[in-house]
Amino acid sequence: MANELRFDGRVAIVTGAGGGLGRAHALLLASRGAKVIVNDLGGSMHGGGKNSAAADSVVEEIKAAGGEAAANYDSVEEGGRIVQAALDHFGRIDIVINNAGILRDVSFHKMTEEDWDLIYRVHVLGSFRVTHAAWPHLRDQGYGRIVMTASAAGIYGNFGQANYSMAKLGLVGFANTLALEGKKRNVLVNTIAPLAGSRLTETVLPKEIIDNLKPDYVSPLCAYLVHESCTDNGGLFEVGGGFFAKLRWERAEGATLRLGRPFTVEQIAARWGEISGFEKASHPANIAESMQPVMTNLEAGPSKGGNDLIDVDLALGY
Ligand code: NAI
Repeated sequence: MANELRFDGRVAIVTGAGGGLGRAHALLLASRGAKVIVNDLGGSMHGGGKNSAAADSVVEEIKAAGGEAAANYDSVEEGGRIVQAALDHFGRIDIVINNAGILRDVSFHKMTEEDWDLIYRVHVLGSFRVTHAAWPHLRDQGYGRIVMTASAAGIYGNFGQANYSMAKLGLVGFANTLALEGKKRNVLVNTIAPLAGSRLTETVLPKEIIDNLKPDYVSPLCAYLVHESCTDNGGLFEVGGGFFAKLRWERAEGATLRLGRPFTVEQIAARWGEISGFEKASHPANIAESMQPVMTNLEAGPSKGGNDLIDVDLALGY
């Protein structure tokens, strides 16, 4: 195909690529010329056991289709070994897709510290360890593309998933800062919040829905994010079932009270509409933009007159 986006010469690590979304990502990248480390611990969806069969079968699929891949069976908690496998097999590393994941769903009042900790270790610590080991290689070569895998459960909350929600939104914050730190060296970091039928979702979604949420429907957006032509950085994307969209923060108009005197609960109550209403929303995209109203208020300085809200608005030019 003309203008096909290809990955020839690129080496990709896809964690948790023995099934579900990771498998689909790995197959797509390999079909476009990437050499792929197919990592999978091969355990249960709740984090128990291990088995090399899952990663092996995806490597076989890739090879049967004429692609290049090697299996790795380490847990993402041993991220350094996964990166070493990429260097040993293919001599470099360009792309990291942090995808491995498990669930320990239980309502919070029944959640144990082990449920909390295990989810943190696989999703957050695992993504940290793999990315941290790859980072110096990506920086030094002045090229890298990284994807984190978040979830709607983290963005919006989901009953029974306090541990998973914590981990998944934690990855968004992690990616936000990596995106800033990596940018100068052309190491770009984005996050997807996918929706797909897999063993993680087949127990909670009806079969007819699962059948229309193919992991293959998610991988093209993920692959675009790790392609050299994509310059998006620090983005968060919802993707699944044929829908693709970027998300961003929205901030209410907000209220500003002049400094130099105590603020009262009643003032907050009086301004609640501006503090919490989104009719005049803005979309701060970085810390400087987010701090802008505070800086304006600091520049205006302490109030000289009485504690009058109208006086505040006039002084600040609102
Ligand atoms: P899946 O269970 O089919 O695939 C996850 C893979 O990760 C499995 O093959 C598993 O063996 C592997 N894995 C688990 N722990 C590992 C570890 N410590 N080290 C290495 N590999 C490990 O699930 P699915 O749905 O494909 O999930 C992929 C990612 O997408 C996960 O991070 C999940 O949380 C996330 N996600 C999936 C959604 C969906 O609708 N399927 C929704 C939101 C997020």
